Formats: sequence, structure tokens, C-alpha cells
Amino acid sequence: MDENIEYLELKMSTNIPEKSPSESHAEVIVRMFPSDANPAGNVFGGEILKNIDMVAGIVAQRHSQSNAVTVSLDSVNFLKPVFVGNVLFLNARINYVHNSSMEIEVKAEAEDIVTGIRTVTATAFVTFVALGQNGKPIPVPHLSLKTDEDRVKFEEGKFRMETRLQNRQK
Ligand SMILES: CC(C)(COP(=O)(O)OP(=O)(O)OC[C@H]1O[C@@H](n2cnc3c(N)ncnc32)[C@H](O)[C@@H]1OP(=O)(O)O)[C@@H](O)C(=O)NCCC(=O)NCCS
Repeated sequence: MDENIEYLELKMSTNIPEKSPSESHAEVIVRMFPSDANPAGNVFGGEILKNIDMVAGIVAQRHSQSNAVTVSLDSVNFLKPVFVGNVLFLNARINYVHNSSMEIEVKAEAEDIVTGIRTVTATAFVTFVALGQNGKPIPVPHLSLKTDEDRVKFEEGKFRMETRLQNRQK
């Protein structure tokens, strides 16, 4: 409850506009090719990370309507292998914003086109910072939380961001 009051006070204390998570949501679909994989046909983890970073960047730039750069990528677990020929579905949404920073959640699923089976291969939390034309951090729109899911993800994102900042190395 205190956290909600803090959030509302922050909203009322500035003229910064607000946007809902659904306004910046992004889904990207990518086919995996032999150049993305090792000789046995397993797609490189780094290829999946590149795509996670790419789709999270779309969400961050849609929300901030500015340049935005990655400052942190939380630990990522690869739950299932992705193979050459699979289609990678990357679903990304914004969970939390502070001042210039934004937490984006990405879910990566791989589909075997022949069987139609789709499996979650990785989930990740990526932090982006919005930058102005001088390359310095700038404030982003506040989040307008429309659904229960938005509210839960905001609180969880706030907790993760606090933990991240405690561990931050300058
Ligand atoms: C983004 C950058 C300009 C920020 O500069 P900075 O001196 O760290 O600026 P600040 O300390 O004022 O932090 C700015 C915001 O970033 C957040 N931040 C910075 N590092 C962070 C981290 N590791 N995790 C989470 N948030 C972080 C701060 O909390 C702050 O958020 P807020 O404005 O919402 O309160 C600078 O870190 C940078 O250029 N990094 C490289 C980005 C890049 O090139 N990424 C691509 C991969 S190399």
C-alpha cells in the first residue's frame, strides 16, 4: 500500500505523461539459420540473447520515444534447446519504470514448424536507460497500470530494480 502511495505521489509531482504497458508491447518472430548455430544444429545462446536485447530495445524505445541503451541483463537460463529451422517468438513488455530506467521482460519461445510444438526456451529481464540527444539519461513516461497483471508486474519489477541497484558496480 505504501508503495502505491509513493507511486501516485511521484506521478502527481511531475508533468511527465504516462503510457500503458500495452502501448509499447512488442512481438518479434525470427527464423533460426545454420549461421546461428553450432555444427550440431544447436542455436548459440548468444544469438538468442541478441534477439532478446533487440526486442527489449523496441519496447524501451516505443515507451520512451527516444534512444535507449541496455544497462543490465539479468541472469538468463536457457530452459530448452533451440535448433536450426525453429522459429523463435520473442514477446516483450515493460514492467517498471523509475526516472530514466525501464525494466523490460522478454519471453522467448521456440516453435518446431513441422510438429507445431512451441516451448519456452528463455525468459529475461533487461534494463534500458533512455538517452537524450546529448547522450545523457532523460525521464521517461510514467506507467499507467491498467490491469491486475500490470500492477503485479510493476511491484515485482520495482523489487528487482532495487536489488539490481544494490548490486550495481560503477
Ligand atoms: C546509460 C548510461 C549513460 C548511464 O550513465 P550513468 O552515469 O550510469 O547514469 P546514472 O548513474 O545517472 O543512471 C541513470 C539511470 O540508469 C540506471 N542504471 C544505471 N546502471 C544500471 C544498472 N546496472 N542496472 C539498473 N539500472 C542502472 C540508474 O539507476 C538510473 O536510473 P533512473 O534514472 O531511473 O533513476 C551509461 O551507463 C552508459 O552509457 N552505459 C553503456 C550503455 C551501452 O552502451 N549499452 C550497450 C551495451 S555495451
